[in-house]
Amino acid sequence: MGSAAKGTLLRDKWEIDVFLLLDAPRGEIKRLGEEILRSCLGGRLPYYFKYSEHPYATVSLMGMQADIVPAPLAVDPREAMGVERTPFHTRYVRSRLEEEPWLVDDILLFKSFLKGVGVYGAETRVGGFSGYLAEVLVIHYRGFEEAVKAASSWRPPVMIDTTGGKADFGMLARRYPDSPMIVPDPVDPSRNTAASVTLKRLSELVHAANLFMRKPSQKFFHAFQPRNPCIKPLPGVMVVMVGDYSNHPPDAIWGRIKRIGERLFRAARARGYPALSYAFYTDEATEAAVYIHMESPSRYHIEARPGPPPWESERAVRFTEKRLGEGGW
Ligand code: CTP
Ligand code: MG
Repeated sequence: MGSAAKGTLLRDKWEIDVFLLLDAPRGEIKRLGEEILRSCLGGRLPYYFKYSEHPYATVSLMGMQADIVPAPLAVDPREAMGVERTPFHTRYVRSRLEEEPWLVDDILLFKSFLKGVGVYGAETRVGGFSGYLAEVLVIHYRGFEEAVKAASSWRPPVMIDTTGGKADFGMLARRYPDSPMIVPDPVDPSRNTAASVTLKRLSELVHAANLFMRKPSQKFFHAFQPRNPCIKPLPGVMVVMVGDYSNHPPDAIWGRIKRIGERLFRAARARGYPALSYAFYTDEATEAAVYIHMESPSRYHIEARPGPPPWESERAVRFTEKRLGEGGW
């Protein structure tokens, strides 16, 4: 399943999604899935078990990572929950790409663009666009350029009808009150496939799309990003936590560490410290860290200067160009 099965896997991403579809009721998948996986993998391959709604195994070998996910074989797409929806997504995208195979390259370009500008990934850590959403958008707009062009004029709340007039945006807006972007899932229009997208990532994409439309460059694509982005060491406070996190799903660990960061950041501000932002990191195995970035005018020339919103594109682009012209960002 996933991008490996759809031909939309970026070639520097060594990850495959394998599903073990079991002809058993949902209630038994947990026990059966773990039992079968353990007996198949045991002793032969290095693997971890992660426990989310369903337990699944992560096998890592020579830089390749495979997630092996047990799920029920037969479910109605409208009753499918979480990972059970993936087989429907895979089938949908594959059938659309069979009709228009040239869209595969456009999807790869769009994913590379999203990654290059830092908004790729539905994980909590990113709060951005999933691979599936990238596929749905490129299929909907019928091309990479068309999708970027459309994104350049988005303004939240963004609502995109991928169902040919059958979408109920009123219902979706009530069901996803915090979503700045609503894209009904073509395999189940009662769900928002863009539920992971935060206002921050949406804004970044809109702005990047505007900059790209005005002055296209390969620098927007992930393969052309500098390997070591120039990051000035910023003053701040770091909290490092050591533990055993390997049996937790990555999203759960990142979610927890993000909440800790947010809480420390707010607490610092409430006590009058000049906290500017926070960052968080975990190796998903033994280490987790939160960094609270502090303003320190005596030592660093850092100044928070709010610009116009990205949907006022002329002003936003000018603001960015001006700042870059000043030599700093
Ligand atoms: N999925 C989803 N919504 C998410 C994350 C994942 O619906 N927020 C489903 C999709 O069906 C997706 C599958 O889980 O195809 C596998 O997830 P992931 O590996 O993140 O996506 P891929 O499509 O495989 O893309 P990538 O190339 O990034 O792995
Ligand atoms: Mg994948």
